[in-house]
Amino acid sequence: MKYRKFGKLGLNVSALGFGCMRLPVVDGESGKIDEPLATAMLRKAIDQGLNYVDTAWSYHLEHSEPFVGRVLKDGYREKVFLATKMPSWLVKSQEDLERLFTTQLERLRTDHFDFYLLHALNAGHWDNYLKVKVFDWAERKLSAGQIRHLGFSFHDRYEVFKQILNGYDNWDFCQLQYNYMDVNEQAGRRGLLEAAEKGLGVIVMEPLRGGKLAAQNPPVQVAEAFSQSQRDWTMAEWALQWLWNQPEISVVLSGMSAMEQVEQNLQFASRSGIGSLNADDLATISRVQQAWSGLAPVPCTSCEYCMPCPNGVQIPRIFKLYNESVMYDRQGRGRNAYRNDFKDDQRADMCVECGQCESLCPQNIPIIQRLKDAHAYLTGENA
Ligand SMILES: NC(=O)c1ccc[n+]([C@@H]2O[C@H](COP(=O)([O-])OP(=O)(O)OC[C@H]3O[C@@H](n4cnc5c(N)ncnc54)[C@H](OP(=O)(O)O)[C@@H]3O)[C@@H](O)[C@H]2O)c1
Repeated sequence: MKYRKFGKLGLNVSALGFGCMRLPVVDGESGKIDEPLATAMLRKAIDQGLNYVDTAWSYHLEHSEPFVGRVLKDGYREKVFLATKMPSWLVKSQEDLERLFTTQLERLRTDHFDFYLLHALNAGHWDNYLKVKVFDWAERKLSAGQIRHLGFSFHDRYEVFKQILNGYDNWDFCQLQYNYMDVNEQAGRRGLLEAAEKGLGVIVMEPLRGGKLAAQNPPVQVAEAFSQSQRDWTMAEWALQWLWNQPEISVVLSGMSAMEQVEQNLQFASRSGIGSLNADDLATISRVQQAWSGLAPVPCTSCEYCMPCPNGVQIPRIFKLYNESVMYDRQGRGRNAYRNDFKDDQRADMCVECGQCESLCPQNIPIIQRLKDAHAYLTGENA
């Protein structure tokens, strides 16, 4: 394992962190973690030197935190920096902060969090946190040693990021969605550089854009763009090495869903390093960026923040199918899957335009309109 500096804190963190949001599950159900396999995966990574574990209240329909608590028994807790997050959307008062935090300590079987984040900050959550005086509460927790380092994860526009970054003097770190296709999205590269300049450790989330940058059958344009390089890296390795090449990044979190991915990503991390990409490599990434651009009609990363839809629409699954059908030019196969894999009451035409999903979407996708587009494409009504 390679270790990297963590902003001004001077800690040594592993280049690879374990994101506990996409663990292997049973029967395709997000709330049913495949515990024996997921335990073996997490412990293998820790045994090989990974020392940063990231979870959150909401992951796996609230089963991720208790699961991580169980995995970290038997001495594993002491080997890692443990990170979890305050579910910003549930906070209306200081009492809520206290209640949620206490439950998290219990779920994770610990007396402190090494890294504690205000989850998924955006303009609305930020305003709300200022109203409830979150920093008065957080500083009491810092003084008591129950929070060791305070930070935030972020999903909004760059301008909001700047406001939040500069809105509190004692941030230790932030967590950003960043990968070679998101250089200009959300906080983007500008935000990354500004956070690092202020001495914050920067944790990267969605390094493979939720797996899309490691597609098994990439569009021909993308495969072609990679094939011009001499490197024999997989697409996942390209995306991860591109991140580790950058000195401003401390930890790259990967949400691994199979043992093979853990083994591969540990290997990739062990040969990672700042400045390890040469000019040809950077030119390859530029070609690949161009090849991907514009192929996918909906920038959904399947984070599932929009779920559950009150009317049962399977929003991320529909967008995944729509995107992949368009990207791979497989409308026929997409139509079959839409007909066979979705029940009538899960399809996009069940949307009643209540808009709840749009207010929760970290990517600010106009979900209502995109569902109409997807339905037209996947039923052939657009033909
Ligand atoms: N705070 C927030 O607002 C927030 C939001 C999002 C994420 N996060 C955190 O950040 C973590 C990382 O984000 P992420 O899970 O989206 O990471 P990601 O690396 O972009 O996507 C993970 C997916 O990539 C695929 N993958 C991973 N390693 C691979 C490999 N070696 N080869 C091929 N495919 C590979 C897997 O897809 P398949 O399962 O399809 O095989 C996996 O589920 C999360 O787990 C979570 O802890 C936080």
